[in-house]
Amino acid sequence: MRSIAALSVAALLILGASATAGTTSPPEPNIVTDTCSQCHGNNGISSTAWFPNLAAQTKTYLETQLKAFRDHTRADHYAKAYMWTMAGTLPDKMIKEIAEYYKAQQPPKPSSNEDPAQVAAGKTIFEKGIASENVPACGACHGANAEGNTMFPRLAGQHRDYLIAQLHAFRDMSRNNAIMSANVKQMTDQQMREVSAYLASL
Ligand code: HEC
Ligand code: HEC
Repeated sequence: MRSIAALSVAALLILGASATAGTTSPPEPNIVTDTCSQCHGNNGISSTAWFPNLAAQTKTYLETQLKAFRDHTRADHYAKAYMWTMAGTLPDKMIKEIAEYYKAQQPPKPSSNEDPAQVAAGKTIFEKGIASENVPACGACHGANAEGNTMFPRLAGQHRDYLIAQLHAFRDMSRNNAIMSANVKQMTDQQMREVSAYLASL
């Protein structure tokens, strides 16, 4: 009995190890090297604030966004200008491969350029929301450390200015998402800046 138990533990360990190896290194699709990396950087870490980092983003969210660019339901200014063409002809299978690739990359490094007072104010908004303005705690959906989960995107380490632009776009409904537009309807520019500074610093 003892040796059977030991054997099955060993088998589980081997299975576990190969499953991890399989998910951490999916091949980089050619289109990523040829095209996407020009704006989103190598391994999904971009050096320009308007081009979001894609590294370690959740798979479901990446897939949803690429499909939303492709069918034009994500229609904010930069989405139209940059991503409609990029995603226009991507087949579902390639979207899945791209999402698997970016999900497996190392997350972006925390920004060390944020104003400490804004970061502190932003942390409170993220963790507690703003009851008087019906703003819910962001962490409830985006994860305690903004690491994201399935349809709820990772926000940790994202470029501050990109985040601010998205919050504005949700508020003015140019990026139309029922959940997020309701969440940020009453947020001020200053609060958007603070929560974005906090997220960039994670
Ligand atoms: C010429 C620059 C450029 C190229 C090339 C490009 N993108 Fe983008 N991408 C952008 C910009 C700008 C945005 C932000 C759009 C916005 O503000 O709504 C974006 C947004 C995205 C997002 C949404 C990220 C998020 O956090 O919501 C995904 C996913 C994405 N791009 C994937 C890709 C893929 C895959 C490719 C290659 C097929 C690609 N992009 C090529 C500029 C580019
Ligand atoms: C009830 C769940 C929920 C709560 C609470 C929530 N979000 Fe979101 N958030 C979402 C969903 C779902 C999306 C994806 C929208 C889409 O698919 O376009 C999102 C998207 C975002 C994005 C876009 C990310 C990107 O890469 O483009 C930002 C920024 C964001 N949320 C910030 C916040 C902030 C700040 C708060 C707190 C004030 C917050 N969210 C609270 C559900 C939530």
